[in-house]
Amino acid sequence: MANVIVVGAQFGDEGKAKVTDLLSKNSDIVARYQGGSNAGHTVVVEGETYKFHLIPSGILYKGTICMLGPGMVIDPKAFIKELEGLLACGQDVSLLKVSTTAHVTMPYHLAIDAAEEDSRGSLKIGTTKRGIGPTYADKCDRIGIRMEDLLAPDVFRSKLEWLVPKKNIILERLYDLPPMDAKQIFDEYIAYGEMMRPYICDTSAIIFQAVKERKNILFEGAQGTLLDLDHGSYPYVTSSSPSAGGACVGAGIGPTVIDRVIGVSKAYLTRVGEGPFPTEQHGEVGDQLRQVGKAWAEVGVTTGRPRRCGWFDCVLGRYSARINGLDCLAVTKLDVLDEFDQIKVCIAYRDTQDGSVYRDLPAMAGAFSRMEPIYETFAGWKKPTNHCRSFAELPMQAQKYLDFISSELDVPVAIVSVGPKRDQTIVIEDPIHGPKRVLSSVIN
Ligand code: GDP
Ligand code: IMO
Ligand code: MG
Repeated sequence: MANVIVVGAQFGDEGKAKVTDLLSKNSDIVARYQGGSNAGHTVVVEGETYKFHLIPSGILYKGTICMLGPGMVIDPKAFIKELEGLLACGQDVSLLKVSTTAHVTMPYHLAIDAAEEDSRGSLKIGTTKRGIGPTYADKCDRIGIRMEDLLAPDVFRSKLEWLVPKKNIILERLYDLPPMDAKQIFDEYIAYGEMMRPYICDTSAIIFQAVKERKNILFEGAQGTLLDLDHGSYPYVTSSSPSAGGACVGAGIGPTVIDRVIGVSKAYLTRVGEGPFPTEQHGEVGDQLRQVGKAWAEVGVTTGRPRRCGWFDCVLGRYSARINGLDCLAVTKLDVLDEFDQIKVCIAYRDTQDGSVYRDLPAMAGAFSRMEPIYETFAGWKKPTNHCRSFAELPMQAQKYLDFISSELDVPVAIVSVGPKRDQTIVIEDPIHGPKRVLSSVIN
């Protein structure tokens, strides 16, 4: 029995879905705990590419319960589209569960997210325009619609009759947009509720029972630590808590049930949307990272935007190890570095104002923008790694590169991914049953 959190250790898109899919083989439950359809998770199995936004990546295993937890925000339209896509390719969705208390992304959330983003000018965040911020804002304001409301027509109707006129003031007066009709929204969303009824339940109670039966539970993070509302590069963050601490609140379980935290990092770094990125590479190096072979590989799964690319950043990596209490790392996309003559890793930042050097992220407002990276440069291995299935098979320079990252972050690398397919994976140590790193280093 082990209960494991898989968390993005960078700015999202680290390859969490591939790692979740791998580990789901031995999981009884896979639960998403935050975020919504802003996520774009890719799994490649037997030549098929599956893209998930709301449904956990564990769904491809028959017999695994997949949950959309209470901490999520769910756009019913997006959920039903994803569900229909899975049914069309013959996947079993009978063990899908949706929390009664997850919040619903409503049409006015989508409209406000897009309008707000367009009105920000130079202050724009680069959101996915999936209504995430406005849905979580309503949740905090205690005026949100929850999944359970879609199953209770009288409650839902009275909430909408009060809410929609308020939202219309924002839409019409602030953004010059047409008003929405409460009755029309009611009819459409109550129908979605009926379609989703078979899946809606108390997911936290199911997890608690599974814990008592010593089953294996995997908590699948969306986004990444540096997009965390509290701990990320605020305000260029998402509106939820992707970091490991968020799994307990977002899934409705106590921290005592968590056994391991696995951080997923690319062997380099990418970011979609606005915000600081000290190791970002423009020009040739950035383009080379964005491509695999001749194809543009680093493109957002949800929005189709090209991802910003740069070198691995140990300052951010150490921060992520701290915020999440990482036990081990899964390093993905090592193969993308195969062709490089030289590979750089940022080991510290230098403050361009006063020359101070920081190995750890300085806790100062606006500090990010003043930091320039200090790099260690590695010779590239210039050999394909796609076929490697053990650490020893990797070129010596690639082994050195991984050892360096591991020692700089003080976190063991348990998994290395050398391609998008399930079997393009190297397991260095058991990511689930290895020693508790944080605990053992405290005891020692
Ligand atoms: P997630 O949001 O963290 O699940 O990651 P995404 O699915 O948004 O982006 C990761 C992309 O990298 C997907 O297209 C994966 O199929 C792909 N991928 C994952 N691992 C590897 C790898 O080791 N090598 C390569 N070349 N691609 C990978
Ligand atoms: P996965 O789960 C990468 C980014 C957006 C934007 C910021 C806020 O695939 O890793 P939002 O729509 O959430 O209000 O946008 O967060 N963002 C992601 N970046 N991967 C994601 O998800 C992301 N989800 C949101 O680009 O910068
Ligand atoms: Mg993604």
